[in-house]
Amino acid sequence: MKQAPKHPVRLERQGNVALIVIENPPVNALGVAVRRGIAAALNAALAQEGTHAIVIAANGRTFPAGADIREFDMAPQEPSLTQLCSLVENSPKPVVAAVHGTALGGGLELAMAAHYRVAAKGARMGLPEIKLGILPGAGGTQRLPRLVGPELALDMILTGNQVSAGIAAEMGLVDHVADTDLREEAVAYARSVTEPRQTGANREHLRDGAAYMASVNARRAQVKMELGANALAPLKIVNCVEAALLLPLEAGLDVERAACEECMDSRESAGLRHAFFAERAASKFPEAADAKPAQVDRVAIVGGGLMGSGIAIAALQSGFAVTLVEQGESGVNAALERIGAYYERSVAKGRLSEAQGAAALTHLQLTNKLDTLSEADLIIEAVAEDLELKTQLLAEISALAKPEAVIATNTSYLDLDILAQATGRPTDTIGLHFFAPAEVNKLVEIGVHDAASPQAVMTGLGFAKHLGKVPVRARVHAGFGSGYIGNAILEAYRHAADIMLEDGATPSQIDGAMRSFGFRMGPYQVADMSGLDIAYARRQSKPRDPDARYVEIADKMVEQGWLGQKSGRGYYIYAEGQRQGVPNGDVLKLIAEHRAQKGITPRKFSDRDIRDRILLAMVNAGARLLGEGVAARPSDIDVVMVHGFGYPRSRGGPMMDADATTPAIIASRLSVLAPEEPKLWSAAPVLSMLAHERQKFEDLNTS
Ligand code: CAA
Repeated sequence: MKQAPKHPVRLERQGNVALIVIENPPVNALGVAVRRGIAAALNAALAQEGTHAIVIAANGRTFPAGADIREFDMAPQEPSLTQLCSLVENSPKPVVAAVHGTALGGGLELAMAAHYRVAAKGARMGLPEIKLGILPGAGGTQRLPRLVGPELALDMILTGNQVSAGIAAEMGLVDHVADTDLREEAVAYARSVTEPRQTGANREHLRDGAAYMASVNARRAQVKMELGANALAPLKIVNCVEAALLLPLEAGLDVERAACEECMDSRESAGLRHAFFAERAASKFPEAADAKPAQVDRVAIVGGGLMGSGIAIAALQSGFAVTLVEQGESGVNAALERIGAYYERSVAKGRLSEAQGAAALTHLQLTNKLDTLSEADLIIEAVAEDLELKTQLLAEISALAKPEAVIATNTSYLDLDILAQATGRPTDTIGLHFFAPAEVNKLVEIGVHDAASPQAVMTGLGFAKHLGKVPVRARVHAGFGSGYIGNAILEAYRHAADIMLEDGATPSQIDGAMRSFGFRMGPYQVADMSGLDIAYARRQSKPRDPDARYVEIADKMVEQGWLGQKSGRGYYIYAEGQRQGVPNGDVLKLIAEHRAQKGITPRKFSDRDIRDRILLAMVNAGARLLGEGVAARPSDIDVVMVHGFGYPRSRGGPMMDADATTPAIIASRLSVLAPEEPKLWSAAPVLSMLAHERQKFEDLNTS
C-alpha cells in the first residue's frame, strides 16, 4: 500500500488570505493524515492575526477525489471526514474551496462544507459512492440537496455521474467558474466575501416541503421498481435525502453516518471495492514496466467485420487516426455501413452531436489496399478465426509494416505463439483480445507470449488504456493455445453446465439459476446470442481430449441448423426480430433422446447445485490459470469475469467469492465431485496448496 506523504497539507499565505494546500498524490485522497493536516492548518489559519478568509486548494492532478478507500476496512481515526467538514463549515472566517480536476465523494463533500466554491473551467464534480455500494458519508446527502434541491441531488447521488464546472454553476453547486488561474481567482473571491455562509443553514430548497417530499417519494418508488425493495444503498440514499428536509443538519448527518456504515459492511460494497482496485491492479504489468511504449498515432485494423469495425470505432472515439482494411469493394462498403450505422445511432440517441460524428469519421481511412499499412504504428489483425488465413495474412502484414510498428492479433483461441512466429518478428507481435461489442465492452486481454518484447507489450497496454479499456495480461506459453483467461474459464463452466444438461437439468433451469445469482444471462442464452456455430467450429478445430467427458448436445443442435438467435432457433425459439426467446421444446426432446442413447437416467439438480457447480468450475479453472502463469493475479481473473462474462460486479468476481467460501471448503467440495469427471473437478494444484496452507486467493494478489 502506498504511504501518504508525512506532511500532505501545507499552510501558505497570500496577504490576508490563508491558503491550505493539499498534496497527497496521486488523487489527494482524504486519508487520516490529510484530514488531520487540513484540521490543523485551518486552526492555525484562524489563529493567525489578519486572516480575512481561507482557501482550500490542492496541488497535482485533482482536488481530493474522495475518502481514502483503502482505509474503509480499518478502524476509524479522528477526525472523521464528517467531523472535518463540520469544522470547516463552522469556521468563523469564510472558507472557499478551489476545485480542479475531479472533486469526487469526500472531496466534493469537503467542498460543499466550505462556504463558497470556485471551480476551474475543466473541473468535474460527483458523488460516485454508489458505485462502491455505499453512500456519501460526510454530509453529501445533507448538503447537496440544500445547495441544489432534492431532484438534482438525487440524480447525482443515485447515478454517481459527474457534472462539469459549468453545469455545477448552473445548478448552484459552484459560485464562480475560474477562466484563467484558479488559485488566483479563488483568493480574489475569498477577499471579496465578507462572511461565512453555511451550507447547513441554507433553506432555499427546503421551503417547499410538499414538493420536496413528492420528489423523494417518486424516486423511492422508482428505485424499488427498478432495483427491487432490497436495493440497500439506493434506498438508504433516498432516506438520507429525505432526512435532509425533516431533520436539522446534525441529526441528518447522524442518519447518514449510520446508513453509510451499514452499506460499508455489506457484501455488495466489499465486492464493488474489490472490483475497483482489481481493475487498477490488472493494468499493471510490473515485468514490462520499464519498457517505453511506442508512440501510436495511426492504428490500422485488418478485417472490418463486427470485431474489426468495433475496434475501429473504439479507436476513432479515442482520437486515433484509423486505417481499416477490408477485402474488395463489397467488404469496404459493408464495414462503412456498420461504422456509419454506429454513428447514426449515437447521434440519434444524443450521445454525439452530428458534428462530432462527422468529425470522427474524417479520421477513418477505409480501404482495400494492404499497402496502406506501412503508415500505421500499430496494426491489429481481426479476420476470421482460421489459422491458415491468419498466418498468411500476418506474414503479409509484417512485410508491409514499418520496422518499428507493433503487430497485434485479435485471435480468441488460436495459438498465439504460432501466429507471432508467422509474422517473422515475434518480438513485435502481441495478442489484443477484444470482447464484442468492442466499441462498448471494456475488457481487452493483452496476450503475452514468450518472445514478445516488453516494448510491444507496453504499447498494447498503453493503447488499450488510451481507449479507456480495462486491460488484463494473459501470459501464453508455447503449446497452450491462445491461453486467454476468459476462454479457459468459459470452457470450464460451459463444460460443467453441459454435464448437468446431459444428466438431467434443462437449459432454462441452468440459465435461471445463473440469473438469480446475478448474471444478466445464463450460459445457454449467451450461446444462442453468440451463435452455436462459432463454438462448434472451435470444437471441431481442436483435437478432442480423450480423458474428458464429451457432451454432444450442442453439436447435434448445430447439425439440425439450430444456431441460436441468428436462425431464430437454438436453446430458445425467437420470434422475428426478438432477442428474448421461449424454451425450445424440440431441444428438450433432443436432449431426452440423447440421454436415452447414452443410457443416462436423468436426475434432479436444484438451483443451488447448479450455481455451486458452475462456480466451482470457474474457480478451479481460475486456479489452474494461476498455476500455469497465464493469469498473474487472482484479481485479474475477477476483472475478466466481471467485464467479459457478466459476473455480478457486486460480488467482486469468482476468486473473491471463492475466498468468502474459503479455498479449503472449495477443495473439499471438488474432491466430492472429482470421481464424476476428474478432468473438470480435480482440484488445481494452486487451490490444493491454498487449502492446505489455509490461505486465500487474495494472498496471491500482487500490486
Ligand atoms: N482512495 C484511495 N485510492 C484511490 C482513490 C480513493 N478514493 N481514488 C483513486 N485512487 C488510487 C487508485 O487506486 C490508483 O492507485 P494505483 O496507482 O496504486 O493503482 C490511483 O489512485 C490513480 O487512480 P486511477 O488509476 O483511477 O486514475 P484515473 O486518473 O484514471 O482516475 C479518478 C482518477 C477519477 C479519481 C478515479 O481514480 C476514481 O474514480 N476514483 C474513485 C473516486 C471515488 O469513488 N471517490 C469516492 C470515494 S468514497 C468517499 O469519498 C466516501 C465517503 O463519503 C465516506
